[in-house]
Amino acid sequence: MTVHFIGAGPGAPDLLTLRGRDLIASCQLCLYAGSLVPEAILSHCPPDARIVNTAPMDLDAIIAEIQTAHDAGFDVARLHSGDLSVWSAMGEQLRRLRGLGIPVSVTPGVPSFAAAAAALETELTLPGLAQSVILTRTPGRASTMPEGETLVNFAATGATLAIHLSISNLAAVVADLTPAYGGQCPVAVVYRASWPDQQIIRATLETIEGAVGADITRTALILVGPALAGEGFEDSCLYARTYDRRYRPQTADSPWASWQHGDD
Ligand SMILES: C[S@@+](CC[C@H](N)C(=O)[O-])C[C@H]1O[C@@H](n2cnc3c(N)ncnc32)[C@H](O)[C@@H]1O
Repeated sequence: MTVHFIGAGPGAPDLLTLRGRDLIASCQLCLYAGSLVPEAILSHCPPDARIVNTAPMDLDAIIAEIQTAHDAGFDVARLHSGDLSVWSAMGEQLRRLRGLGIPVSVTPGVPSFAAAAAALETELTLPGLAQSVILTRTPGRASTMPEGETLVNFAATGATLAIHLSISNLAAVVADLTPAYGGQCPVAVVYRASWPDQQIIRATLETIEGAVGADITRTALILVGPALAGEGFEDSCLYARTYDRRYRPQTADSPWASWQHGDD
């Protein structure tokens, strides 16, 4: 018996991995994290599976549900939105399950920042503009930030910022970022990326607060940085005609000339 943690993706049911789908179909118990996991994904559960929304449950109740399934010899699918590596609360569940000696597996999912970038049809790392993406959030009612992980500090890098769980703190986000990025820096807010009611708002740090409607209060990503402009960047070396590289040696003297596919 194994608890399979599965990233359910950002919302569109077909952004679930094939491995995730097959694991869901093989489990007699499915625990899913409330509003952000689309109902359509639950249709992969076997017809007689027990399906439990964990939104109203606390950690003890979730672990008790898993322990009962474990005692009965059932596999469990544990679904969280997006990918499990960020803001999934998987860590505390893993710790408990390891303590109980219950085996686990982890299957990644499409994270919301990637779905938002796809909705914008943009690359977040553009040569000369940004080569790093910082996935972060602002403090919330239930979560403080470790010292040093401030937007002001991240802004000093000039990187592309993907700010989660913060649409209700938009004024503070703008105030913290404007000194480093400038008021003209492009910003995009993507609400419910990949869902049928997805919305995209493009603006600048100066104008974003006025552009985001009062109806957007959750499930939105704030993307900030010069790369969001999608222009003013150099071509990468990867496909440059004259760039000497492993797959395209430019001369007979190239260190790559004798390299064979399959070599390191
Ligand atoms: C609890 S976190 C979950 C993050 C998730 N594990 C991931 O991989 O993206 C929830 C936050 O992720 C972002 N988010 C999740 N799904 C989203 C979507 N479809 N569109 C935009 N933002 C989303 C929002 O910032 C939301 O407040």
